[in-house]
Parts: sequence; structure tokens; C-alpha cells
Amino acid sequence: MRRIIIDCDPGHDDAIAILLALAHPDKFKIEGITTVGGNHNVDKITDNLLKLLTLVDKDIKVAKGAKSPLVCPLVTGEEAHGGTGMDGHNLSDIKFKPIAKGAVEFMKDIITEASEKITLIAIGPLTNIAMLFSTFPEVKEKVELISLMGGGINEGNKTAAAEFNIYVDPEAAKIVFDSGIPIVMSGLDVTNKAQMYYTEFKRLKGKGKVSAFVNDLLDFYSIFSRKFGYDKGSALHDPCAIAYLLNPDIFTAKKYHIDIETTGTVTRGMTVADRRKLPEGRLNANVLLDLDREAFVNMIFNALDILDTECNS
Ligand code: BDR
Ligand code: CA
Repeated sequence: MRRIIIDCDPGHDDAIAILLALAHPDKFKIEGITTVGGNHNVDKITDNLLKLLTLVDKDIKVAKGAKSPLVCPLVTGEEAHGGTGMDGHNLSDIKFKPIAKGAVEFMKDIITEASEKITLIAIGPLTNIAMLFSTFPEVKEKVELISLMGGGINEGNKTAAAEFNIYVDPEAAKIVFDSGIPIVMSGLDVTNKAQMYYTEFKRLKGKGKVSAFVNDLLDFYSIFSRKFGYDKGSALHDPCAIAYLLNPDIFTAKKYHIDIETTGTVTRGMTVADRRKLPEGRLNANVLLDLDREAFVNMIFNALDILDTECNS
């Protein structure tokens, strides 16, 4: 059983990633979910998360995190995620509240008090996690792994060079990639291939309320996908960071030393992979490059079936 904290900014794909984790209590003990300003401001993001948890009736600790990146003002992802950061659904009920502690303090306490190491799953800008490592560096030795969605060694989306999560807070990303903790990087190289095809959306219909919710999310998100040239389907970026932990065998990967560009005028936020032959000890990230798309998509449908059944009983 892996003990995890999910740091997120829901976000359509964040929501699906969280559902994927929630469907596997046999594999994950979710110690808490922390929120960070990213796809929208942290208040909206936290409300989105609480609505999601209310839908599936999971009383998991939620701690609100950073409002803005370490250095620069927040850039949001409204063009993909809409005015709430997670447009398209009709959920309004919120049954739970965030805890009083902030995200950084909460993560520090969970990690310090845990008898085993904790895995961090980071699917938004890395602000909270960088603040955690800068303020409480002693926690690093108790972090097993960081499975993150961010970057791309061959492509960008927010800019030609940078992926959104890293672009929003490159200074934070640098701290995390330099932390010495093993990183699994689900960047655009793999996540752009992790598509649910539009023709597959029909598999969400006529099921329970969780599938119906995801169908609503994807109907909205696919408008953006089509506009940005995804002809066959929507890329489910964030779920890759969870799917890898559920079944690493469906991915191919290569280890690189990744550095973060923080000063470039056109390359700020780029994840630069060093392709030279380096000693193993210099390679700070296992970069996912490809996946068995069908196995990935089936993993998502299977998780939704589990949650639909649970919610109906
Ligand atoms: C990442 O940016 C956000 O818009 C998504 O939620 C995902 O985490 C993809 O670049
Ligand atoms: Ca996200």
C-alpha cells in the first residue's frame, strides 16, 4: 500500500486523476489532497475539489495551498478549463471543508509523523512542494518518490518550449527537480498520447453519476482539445501520474537529467533534458515517453465503473 498526498489544481484532468486514485483504496492510502493556484485561483480550485469529493462522498483531508507562484503572478488555464477552472458539470453541493492548516504545514506534519515514506503526486504547478522543501528540508528524506505531471522534453503547450504546470512556476519546479528525490515525470511526451478518443466518450453514457460527471467534463474539455488540434481525442495529462503508479508496465521511460529554464525569454519554464551520457547518479528524473493508450483508457473506465457501483450501493 502506497501512502500518498495529491497536490492538484482541478482542472478537468486533475479531477479524473483524483477519481482514478480514489477507485484504488487497495493500492493507495490517500493521506490528504492539497490545492494550489494553477488552472484557476486557489479558492475556485479548492471548491472544485470539494464538489468532486462530495459527489463520491469521500471525506478526505483537504488543505488549501499557495495562491500564487514563488516569484511571478499567477497565470491561469482558463482557455482550457473555463471560468471556474473546471467548467462543464452541474455539481453545486459541497459537504466538506478544508482543514485549518495550510497545504505546506499539512504535508510537513503528515510526512514527519508517518512511519513509512510518503509518495507525492503533483499535478499542478509545483509551488506548494517547493515551499515544503525550502521551509522543511528535513522532510525530503521521508519522501519516497514524486510522480508529477509537468514539462516535456520534446514539446510545450503553454508556449513553444514550456508546458503549463512548469511555465506557471519555474522557480518552484527548479527546487523540486534539484531536490534529490526520485521523480517520475509524466510530461507532454507521454500525456499528449494519453488520449481518450472522442469516439470512446460513449462508453461514459448510461452508467452511474460519476461517469456522467466525467462525460460532462470531457464534453467541455474537448472543445478546447479540438480547437488546439487534438483531432482524435482529449489528452488526459494528469491521470498519467497516477496510472504509472498503478501499472508502470504500460509505460516506456528513459532517465535523464532535467534542468528547468527560469530565465530564458522564449524558453522560460522549459524542462531541458541532458541527452549526453551522464553517470546514473546525475539522472534526476525518469521521463515517461510512451504508453499503451488502450490499457490506460481502460484503466480509467474501470475506475469509473468501480466508483459508479460504490455510489449506487
Ligand atoms: C497540465 O496543465 C493543466 O492545465 C492540466 O491540469 C495539467 O496539469 C497540462 O499541461
Ligand atoms: Ca493539473
